[in-house]
Amino acid sequence: MKNQLIDRFDRVHDYLRISLTDSCNFRCSYCMPEEDIQSMPNTHLMQPDEIEIIARKFVALGVKKIRLTGGEPLVRKEFPQIIQSLSKLPVELTMTSNGVLVDKHLESLKAAGIRKVNISLDTLNQETFFKLTKRDQFTKVWENIQLLLNHDFRVKINVVALNGIIEKELLGFVRLTKDLPLHVRFIEFMPFAGNLWNKDKVLTAAKMLEMVKNDFEVIKLQDAPNDTAKAFQAIGHQGTFAFITTMSEHFCGTCNRMRITADGKMKNCLFGKDEIDLLGKLRAGEDIEPYIRLSVRKKHAALGGQFSPDYTKAEADKIENRSMIKIGG
Ligand code: GTP
Ligand code: 5AD
Ligand code: SF4
Repeated sequence: MKNQLIDRFDRVHDYLRISLTDSCNFRCSYCMPEEDIQSMPNTHLMQPDEIEIIARKFVALGVKKIRLTGGEPLVRKEFPQIIQSLSKLPVELTMTSNGVLVDKHLESLKAAGIRKVNISLDTLNQETFFKLTKRDQFTKVWENIQLLLNHDFRVKINVVALNGIIEKELLGFVRLTKDLPLHVRFIEFMPFAGNLWNKDKVLTAAKMLEMVKNDFEVIKLQDAPNDTAKAFQAIGHQGTFAFITTMSEHFCGTCNRMRITADGKMKNCLFGKDEIDLLGKLRAGEDIEPYIRLSVRKKHAALGGQFSPDYTKAEADKIENRSMIKIGG
């Protein structure tokens, strides 16, 4: 396809993540530092018609998959209207959510043809859940995961592997995959503005796998070419588990992802500090295509050019970026 978005490293970019809001009904400190509690004013947010115009442009440039993110995408009041308009595009539409409002939006998700949903859930323990999210919603999230499965959604669970917590959770999550077709992904803790990251808090995928292997016999599964995760299965289980290894073994070589923040800035990388104001250009009546192309051309080989694979703490402290809640993951 001649219009494709290809960067300097020959990576074809066909996956767009659109953040719908920087608000969230949870308060996880690894994502939302205290100083970021103030959310963007509505006038700064892409409006539903603007989201559709921007998404259409990306689809014309070869995008095949769009993921809606937040903050928490389901707190955006125009969510049903937004997915309804995006459902007309010839793309796979997906969402990453904390799960708490899924039951309220189940029908609009189905009507928009969304079949795959990723739910963030870092613990299976109600008290730990409250400590992490500052909200007493474990039961609701768990019920909504089951609701999604009952309605034949393909459900992945994103577990941020927080050192000191994940050790107690790991086997429970793998055990879940025995009788449920859930796909659990353990994500190495990543540095973002204000989230008090340090290297000692990262438990690597290699260590987690070793711990799982003490209790389960596992096989490696084949990963799809642009997967963020390395997948495994415990023998005899219905579901799978996987690791997202940004910190110990990045997967930038096969990156196909672009991001738009809720305020309409294009980021060519999760860790990129360059932002291009697509919404500003659109509102000024300009064609956004040259700016999209410029952003893709400027993309670095790995990790936004901000730290090396054998990163040091000093390097990580210098990273210029938004907090996770203002990027969308
Ligand atoms: P699938 O499309 O189901 O594979 O999901 P995904 O991994 O693309 O998206 P999701 O929103 O579920 O993200 C899961 C975790 O992977 C989050 O912690 C994201 O920040 C992280 N992630 C997603 N895309 C990237 C990426 O391009 N680079 C890095 N380093 N991490 C990413
Ligand atoms: N490191 C790794 N993953 C994170 N997420 C949020 N903050 C971090 C972090 N610091 C995850 C959320 C969500 C996804 C979009 O990003 O758990 O599932
Ligand atoms: Fe792509 Fe940047 Fe993520 Fe690497 S860190 S996989 S280049 S978005």
